[in-house]
Amino acid sequence: MLVSGKEIFQEAKKGKYAVGAFNLNNMEILQSIIEAAEAEKSPVIIQASQGGLKYAGIEYVAGMARIAAEKASVPIALNIDHGTSFEQIVQCVRHGFTAVMIDGSKLPFEENIALTKRVTEVAHPNGISVEAELGKIGGVEDDIVVSARDATFTDPDEAAEFAERTNCDALAVAIGTAHGVYHGEPKLDFERLEEISKKTDVPLVLHGASGVPDEAIGRAIPYGIVKINIDTELRMAFADAVKRVATEKPDEIDPRKILGPAKEAMFEVVRKKMRLFGSSNKA
Ligand code: G3H
Ligand code: ZN
Repeated sequence: MLVSGKEIFQEAKKGKYAVGAFNLNNMEILQSIIEAAEAEKSPVIIQASQGGLKYAGIEYVAGMARIAAEKASVPIALNIDHGTSFEQIVQCVRHGFTAVMIDGSKLPFEENIALTKRVTEVAHPNGISVEAELGKIGGVEDDIVVSARDATFTDPDEAAEFAERTNCDALAVAIGTAHGVYHGEPKLDFERLEEISKKTDVPLVLHGASGVPDEAIGRAIPYGIVKINIDTELRMAFADAVKRVATEKPDEIDPRKILGPAKEAMFEVVRKKMRLFGSSNKA
């Protein structure tokens, strides 16, 4: 069933676990995420990035998600990841998304607040949750590139003020994670995360979680992280499986036999993350 992101965030906050948010670009990725959620009896967030929307088209993304949610017995939220403008959010509202993220992190503080507030005014009356971002998460995700020099950590006092003034349902924080593949082990700023969690009750979101050691994820969740974004690890599982088929069976031309193993590999990644995040058996 399709539910509001707000419902998922609040249940997770109460239960002290996090729900995985996985990026979808095509049917196989979507099916592997939903099948893992069903197998684990876990709530799940499926989301389309800017590149994902461009690749599949908003109608396909919304249509596939609706069909998946109708068939599934677990709670599913459909989110736009790193929404870039108010207009894009309105489009997502019209297409039946149940969660939106507006990423105003590149804007000055007051402008980020104003944009996020404007988004809540259109999303909340429609029962749609709003995630915002404060501080700048580094790395590369599709067209969104934030260099290590431009990445800035979230200020705890600003986070509290931001949450109160915008009435957002979840806040993405920059505490040392980055989008894409890590070169070296990421170091999370747990003191900052603890400070943020002391100053505000707003559910928190961890982006760039692919490649973050399990131990660090486990340590972060009790500070109020309710949503954890995973994209790169799905891409890697998909690509590795397809390459393996191409190497081992160079004459294979059946798309189902080429993409089937990729689906299985992504299923395993999602399933493992759900267990790690503590969302298994929470549906
Ligand atoms: O918004 C999407 C995520 O933050 C994904 O990050 O590609 O590092 O897993 P990742
Ligand atoms: Zn992200």
